[in-house]
Amino acid sequence: MKTAIIIGASRGLGLGLAQELVKRGWQVVATQRSPSAELAAVAGVTVENVDIDDVEAVQALAARQKGPFDLVFVNAGVTGPKHGSADKVTADELAALMMTNATSPIRTARALLGTVKPGGTIAFMSSILGSVALRQHAMAELYSASKAALNSLTRGFAAAEGKDFAVLSLHPGWVKTDMGGDGADIDVATSVTGLANVIEAETAPGHRYLDYTGKTLPW
Ligand SMILES: NC(=O)c1ccc[n+]([C@@H]2O[C@H](COP(=O)([O-])OP(=O)(O)OC[C@H]3O[C@@H](n4cnc5c(N)ncnc54)[C@H](OP(=O)(O)O)[C@@H]3O)[C@@H](O)[C@H]2O)c1
Repeated sequence: MKTAIIIGASRGLGLGLAQELVKRGWQVVATQRSPSAELAAVAGVTVENVDIDDVEAVQALAARQKGPFDLVFVNAGVTGPKHGSADKVTADELAALMMTNATSPIRTARALLGTVKPGGTIAFMSSILGSVALRQHAMAELYSASKAALNSLTRGFAAAEGKDFAVLSLHPGWVKTDMGGDGADIDVATSVTGLANVIEAETAPGHRYLDYTGKTLPW
């Protein structure tokens, strides 16, 4: 039986991925920041608590995990301030966005590294908006910069760990969640079915930046 820990699974894509992996016969640990009735309702999932910005809570979560996991998936992320503008952002807003979207995911993955099976997978929820190569528009500049920073940090993480593990930076599509909004392209089920297919297929060591259909994205 395959095993996974999904960080940030109270709702949206993290919740959907927990449901999808359980459906495929995986044994899943899934985390929430505060109680999620939807997560509690997923039969067979072990629910844990963590805020990835809380260093001590992340260390305590890692210490509680026996694993070994085939997959550590750091999904948690935020949109950042509504104005989304580099001109308007305050130091506190920027720190909070970069902490949650860029540095905390890497710190969480490092804390959990000892729980991953040799040859296992560490996946980060990136975004196509984190691609510098594809950035020929001005949309969501702060959020995009935070995911570009996550991609850069993940390349460093993979340079150190990618020989032993598959490291995946994943774009879920534009998905109808609280973050993606009602006007998004695809629903959660379509995205997480694709993401689970990619995770099950892309097990070779090394770092890859892929969307939910398995397409490689340019950095
Ligand atoms: N939806 C899209 O179109 C889209 C596209 C590209 C990438 N993404 C990325 O996909 C991931 C999931 O997005 P989503 O659309 O499912 O968004 P969502 O519905 O807003 O869910 C965000 C999840 O992240 C959790 N979270 C946020 N900050 C956290 C923290 N400090 N510690 C622990 N958990 C935290 C939330 O927990 P709470 O319930 O406690 O807030 C929630 O479970 C994010 O990384 C997002 O950037 C989404």
